Amino acid sequence: MNIPVKSTDGIARMREACAIAASVLAKLKEHVSPGIATYDLDQIAKGLIASYGARSADYGYKIGSRRFPAYICVSVNEEVVHGIGSLKRILRDGDIVSLDVTVEYNGYIGDNAVTVPVGQIPPRLQELLLVTEHALQLGIDQARVDNRIGDISATVQDYVESHGFSVVRDLVGHGVGLSMHEPPEIPNFGCRGAGAKIKPGMTLAIEPMVNVGGCRTKTLSDGWTVVTADGSPSAHFEHTVLTTDRGPEILTRSRPV
Ligand code: MF3
Ligand code: CO
Ligand code: CO
Repeated sequence: MNIPVKSTDGIARMREACAIAASVLAKLKEHVSPGIATYDLDQIAKGLIASYGARSADYGYKIGSRRFPAYICVSVNEEVVHGIGSLKRILRDGDIVSLDVTVEYNGYIGDNAVTVPVGQIPPRLQELLLVTEHALQLGIDQARVDNRIGDISATVQDYVESHGFSVVRDLVGHGVGLSMHEPPEIPNFGCRGAGAKIKPGMTLAIEPMVNVGGCRTKTLSDGWTVVTADGSPSAHFEHTVLTTDRGPEILTRSRPV
């Protein structure tokens, strides 16, 4: 499949969509604290997205015949991705929570995620968050013109595994633009030098998902929530990145507002 290369106008619109996605995520994470329900985070995100005149790209998103019923993905502890906010899931001190915000604005989509601690978390979980976020940065650094997608994949995998964690294989990063998921797939595992060559003007969602235990996952009976098979905690960080002749540019970098 061909990887879309964005026009000047497409890139300008990607910048706007990504700036909104980043602002929503930055404001949303301020609300994470012990006692809040994951449903409340979803509703806060819904309001923030609307305040920018944007739309949740998640709400109603179809996989097969199912439509995603929430405005963002909120995934706690052993939940890897695609968690649905619930009034029954109250965040507690020592939890970790992944917030994944994907918005559409003016036809284009921005996608970003962070995992944040709830109150105080143990050292191994602090390390999980730091390693996953740094793996994302190392992956982004590989998103250089004339590199290949496999250079991103292998760099993320090597770094994560050197810390004794595992990378999820059942879900991957992706191109993003007019659609939430465009070519190429960007696995968080693989071989240097493999895969498609990176050209200027690609917009890539790079998103390591990292488990404390094994890499296997399963999907809960709600049809969406992906959890680790062994119940171990999992972290997720994501940015939308523009490739340029001057190197990668993070479009979802949050700026002070
Ligand atoms: N934001 C996710 C990603 O990084 C996709 C959301 S899936 C949905 O690709 F079901 F919530 F829409
Ligand atoms: Co995402
Ligand atoms: Co994504």
